[in-house]
Amino acid sequence: MSGRGELAVAVLGHGAIGSVVAYALHTGQVPGAGLAAVVDPCPPPPPLPAASLDQAIDRADLVVECAGQDALRTAGRAVVAAGRDLLAVSTGALADAALHRDLLAGPGRLRLCAGAIGGLDVLAAAARAEAFDRVTIRTTKAPDALLRPWMDEDQVARLRAAAAPVEVMRGFAREVTRAFPATSNVAASVALAVGDWDVVEAVVVADPAASVSRHEIEARGPAGRYRFEVANRPSPDNPRTSGVVPHAVLRAVEVLAGATGRFA
Ligand SMILES: NC(=O)c1ccc[n+]([C@@H]2O[C@H](COP(=O)([O-])OP(=O)(O)OC[C@H]3O[C@@H](n4cnc5c(N)ncnc54)[C@H](O)[C@@H]3O)[C@@H](O)[C@H]2O)c1
Repeated sequence: MSGRGELAVAVLGHGAIGSVVAYALHTGQVPGAGLAAVVDPCPPPPPLPAASLDQAIDRADLVVECAGQDALRTAGRAVVAAGRDLLAVSTGALADAALHRDLLAGPGRLRLCAGAIGGLDVLAAAARAEAFDRVTIRTTKAPDALLRPWMDEDQVARLRAAAAPVEVMRGFAREVTRAFPATSNVAASVALAVGDWDVVEAVVVADPAASVSRHEIEARGPAGRYRFEVANRPSPDNPRTSGVVPHAVLRAVEVLAGATGRFA
């Protein structure tokens, strides 16, 4: 806790998500929490408190990762090993079982942000009752948001020329979140909620008519049947990210800062 009794928060990444999170914390919009540091290779200008990762760990109670799967892989272990809590938005990095195990080893606690989707609470509750038989998540985005460096020229041309929805990938959540690290963290989040990477099938669709990012989640198991659809407007700063995500991070920080009367 800071001298003022607030939860001291360091923000890792000052892009579309992190800049909104850092500004809200800096301007006192999250009761019980304040901004201690912002870490980014391209540091934010003053008055935001730019810092190295080591300085951020020194100053913060909670480090919020809004910087991508690679950043969670490279910075996460140092955060929890120093006894700081870590709130991760790039949940797909946890497809790496060794990293996931290390981040759970503490002493800092690993927290996961629901990010662009919802329904994870009831999926986790149902999976706790009895394992799911089948879970799918189908993500539909505009083609440009799905272009990846590993795609060959033909794939890129096919996506760019698509006049109708095109299925780009179908597979287990683990492989899909690795292939689309900036847009399929949601597949990992569903797998983490149900506690089984191998029961979740993820489908990625490029739709030239998509003006929103759509996630359709269906799950079936002994506890019941669940179906959710989320349609998010993209962030004005990054078409791969939904505009709601920084607010999901801020909601999670509020809860961790001790706000009462909130869904846990
Ligand atoms: N869980 C979800 O639903 C969900 C949704 C959207 C995005 N995400 C994740 O959030 C990440 C960030 O999204 P964004 O739209 O803000 O991306 P962005 O590209 O706009 O910003 C990322 C920022 O992180 C910085 N950065 C990169 N490596 C860093 C490091 N090692 N340390 C500190 N900063 C570093 C970059 O310089 C950049 O400023 C995405 O890559 C994705 O993994 C998750």
